Amino acid sequence: MLHHSEVAKHNKEDDLWVIIEGNAYDLTEFWPNHPGGAKIILKYAGQDATEPYLPLHPPDTLDKYLTKDKHLGPVDLSGIKIVAKEETQEEKERKERAANKPAMSECLSLYDFEAVAKSVLPMGAWAYYSSGADDEITMRENRGAYQRIWFRPRILRDVTEIDFSTKILGHKTTLPIYITATALGKLGHPDGEKNLTWAGAKQGIIQMIPTLASCSFDEIMDAAKPGQVQFMQLYVNKDREITRKIVQHAEKRGIKGLFITVDAPQLGRREKDMRQKFADEGSDVQNKSGEDTDKSQGAARAISSFIDPGLSWKDLSWFKSITKMPIILKGVQCWEDAVLAAEAGCQGVVLSNHGGRQLDFARSGIEILEEVMRELRKRNLLKNGFEVYIDGGVRRAGDVLKAVALGATAVGIGRPFLYAYSAYGSEGVVRAIQILKDEMEMNMRLIGAPTLADVTPEMIDTSNLHNRAVDGAPDYLARANYEPLAGVGNGLGSQPRLISKEAKGML
Ligand code: LAC
Repeated sequence: MLHHSEVAKHNKEDDLWVIIEGNAYDLTEFWPNHPGGAKIILKYAGQDATEPYLPLHPPDTLDKYLTKDKHLGPVDLSGIKIVAKEETQEEKERKERAANKPAMSECLSLYDFEAVAKSVLPMGAWAYYSSGADDEITMRENRGAYQRIWFRPRILRDVTEIDFSTKILGHKTTLPIYITATALGKLGHPDGEKNLTWAGAKQGIIQMIPTLASCSFDEIMDAAKPGQVQFMQLYVNKDREITRKIVQHAEKRGIKGLFITVDAPQLGRREKDMRQKFADEGSDVQNKSGEDTDKSQGAARAISSFIDPGLSWKDLSWFKSITKMPIILKGVQCWEDAVLAAEAGCQGVVLSNHGGRQLDFARSGIEILEEVMRELRKRNLLKNGFEVYIDGGVRRAGDVLKAVALGATAVGIGRPFLYAYSAYGSEGVVRAIQILKDEMEMNMRLIGAPTLADVTPEMIDTSNLHNRAVDGAPDYLARANYEPLAGVGNGLGSQPRLISKEAKGML
């Protein structure tokens, strides 16, 4: 068996081994092309890289990317110097908060799970999950838009029995909600995306498996119970052969819908994530000496360099030639593209701005939904079962009902379920879905709609929907940093010229 002191000698760019989970690997040829950047590998040359490796890589990664001859076998770790890392004050406090977190039964809404997750997640994980692009104005607008839609309830309808079950792409679901794809599930919990699979099974809702999951695709499929429906979200690789393999493998394993992400030719700038310097040595593949560049690109950049910005409408016929799965475009943002998708033979679109993580000042899905349904109906493009979904900002069953009223088949929920399992494991997600069911029942009773078919456009008032002038998206960052010009008044009126002590205090 290899001894770790032998591995340690292979610590140069032209001879580079690492240890991962007790096995040695020769990365000499691989490291310059590491999608997460070369520097992080150089940093661990000759050493044990298990700790940074695990949360970012599905278990089958090494088999997928390294040929057999680069797998050097188990390593004898005896006598290895374990340098105990001093626990930071921040980490101590976080553990303390985690040990004293509220009982799960105290969580009454999706926001409660978010609050608990915020207090118990490591900073890097919280930053990656919660961040949005640029000024995060679109991320907040995703909530703001729902707040501009009000109900027009109907009365004296028999609402003894309430039924909110429906179908997505012909598959039964207990709610018009699916678990949408979110990356790096193990940052929040060691079982990662499997928490969602298990909860989806218990509650009868469909999970969309992300390309950038922390668990391997097969692990997530294997975690499902027999007959459980799963969809897959796809980032298209520049190497179409890899994409073809992924898609065909998914189909063979029984995936029921292929959701191709079309709003992320490059991942957005999420400054909160970048500040965390996720991969601590950055992700700059080319510039090995590069001191000033890419030191803090965050998790998003570290995992995404394979995504093909050249993806175009022309590729759709190729996708149709390699799979019979329904194809849905995820990230459509105007009616023109929804019409093109329907005309191109897609089975649906997700109106989405990627949870506000891509283009800041992209409109919210719920706002786009109105124009998309109008134009699809006008052109008779819904006739072949074309379905429209939305995601982003859904936190209450009332939001779901607003989307259904406007014509959505279902809505995707992402972050809130991540937060629920980051705080309480899979049972957290089960409870979060149960809360949505309870809210759904109450809301449908109160608007006078016993089934989803009764949730019609007349039941909502959207007259303010397109009015983004309301303060639904306050520019927090600019506000926090802004300091008015001193010495010329306090902005509260024209008096006084010389700023009084009290007025100064208000600045
Ligand atoms: C993100 C990607 C990976 O938004 O979907 O971070």
